Amino acid sequence: MIYWLTYVVILCFCNDSPLLLYLRARLAMTSTPSFIIIAIDGGAASGKSSTSKILAERFNLLHVDTGSFYRHITHELLRRGVLPTNLAALTLALTELNFTTQLQGRSAQLMIGGQPADHEIRGQNVNEHVSHYAAIPAVRQKLLGYQRGQVAVAQQHGFRGLVMEGRDIGSVIFPAADYRFFLHADPIERAKRRAREGQLDSIAERDRLDSSRKASPLVSPTGAIAIDSTFLTLEQVVEKMAAMIEKKLS
Ligand code: CDP
Ligand code: CDP
Repeated sequence: MIYWLTYVVILCFCNDSPLLLYLRARLAMTSTPSFIIIAIDGGAASGKSSTSKILAERFNLLHVDTGSFYRHITHELLRRGVLPTNLAALTLALTELNFTTQLQGRSAQLMIGGQPADHEIRGQNVNEHVSHYAAIPAVRQKLLGYQRGQVAVAQQHGFRGLVMEGRDIGSVIFPAADYRFFLHADPIERAKRRAREGQLDSIAERDRLDSSRKASPLVSPTGAIAIDSTFLTLEQVVEKMAAMIEKKLS
């Protein structure tokens, strides 16, 4: 026993001993925790934004609402009179859109040509058109690199990681994310939630278009953690997710 203890102590103090190198590496890993990526997908009004914002606050994460990106692009293309049916004009218009990011609190805001999105991106006109633009591969391709680039934005601003919400985050944008959640809720309950917010939004139609398109459809990816929030409060959903995240972090 004494022999083994002496051996371990010598190994520890020998400058380039494997044990010392191992202990140093372990210390480095615990003092600089690795960057975490949380993907949250689900249909309209399933609770993605509300849960993401709370998780971002709790775990010091950058919050990225990719739905707001599709909404901003839709608003901009409608403003320019570019219809989703005119592929040539749409492809040209996309090349003219210059994307940058501005932080608003913990949330990443997409700026187009230096301009932030305005409140109209949540209005009825964008609600009606957004899924048609989002179904076009060129639109999704334009956003792909920008969305993945949010990792660098989060790192530059000292966040512990990022939580990104949308329809294809766990399936296409970050299939190897540390945590992939898929939120479900009964369509009638989701329609009630939107109505309580005073919004005119035919969520069933958007879900139908989002799930049936060829390019990156709304799907619960294999291996994602599915949560049905129909009978759960927002707080209960957040606690479920946070418990899983904390378990893996500790
Ligand atoms: O808030 P809500 O869940 O109703 O919608 P959103 O997240 O703001 O997304 C608006 C629309 O953008 C969706 O209905 C999809 O058509 C599109 N979207 C998408 O195709 N892929 C994403 N990753 C996020 C949104
Ligand atoms: O982002 P997404 O469209 O998926 O949904 P949301 O904007 O986070 O949630 C839509 C509404 O449902 C909000 O007013 C939430 O407070 C509410 N909600 C709820 O009542 N119960 C839940 N479990 C989740 C969200």
